[in-house]
Amino acid sequence: MERTYLMVKPDGVQRNLAGEIISRFEKKGFKIVGLKMLRISREMAEKHYGEHAGKPFFESLVGFITSGPVVAFVIEGKDAVSAARDMMGATNPLKAAPGTIRGAYGIDIGRNIIHGSDSLESAAREISLFFKEEELVEYSREV
Ligand code: CMP
Repeated sequence: MERTYLMVKPDGVQRNLAGEIISRFEKKGFKIVGLKMLRISREMAEKHYGEHAGKPFFESLVGFITSGPVVAFVIEGKDAVSAARDMMGATNPLKAAPGTIRGAYGIDIGRNIIHGSDSLESAAREISLFFKEEELVEYSREV
């Protein structure tokens, strides 16, 4: 069982896509174990996107992710990291398969609707950056 960190970006929230996006992961069978709306500070954004520091798009990336509220959530399930990335589609929405989230809703690589951790290590780091331990819940879905 894996956990991964997902985040509806400010464009997704503004376009009223948060519910639709969360719903896709629920319907697929993943369990939501953490969920909140927040406004990301510049400091958090720089930590979250640290691996992109120095790249030409870094400033616009940080500017965009701090420009409005995001919906952060954590899912749990089999192969959550790679399965979620498959569901999101390619980073560039124009290259993403039509049935994927980015393929269905985006056209711009900077405003690509959703972020998802790219590895188990990133997932652990990003989950702990955005969620306190007590904000993550354990529950059974068999009731
Ligand atoms: P995300 O999955 O959030 O991780 C890093 C983000 O950087 C990525 O989605 C894109 O939104 C953004 N990104 C990657 N490449 C470019 C680029 N060439 N121009 C602008 N933004 C980019």
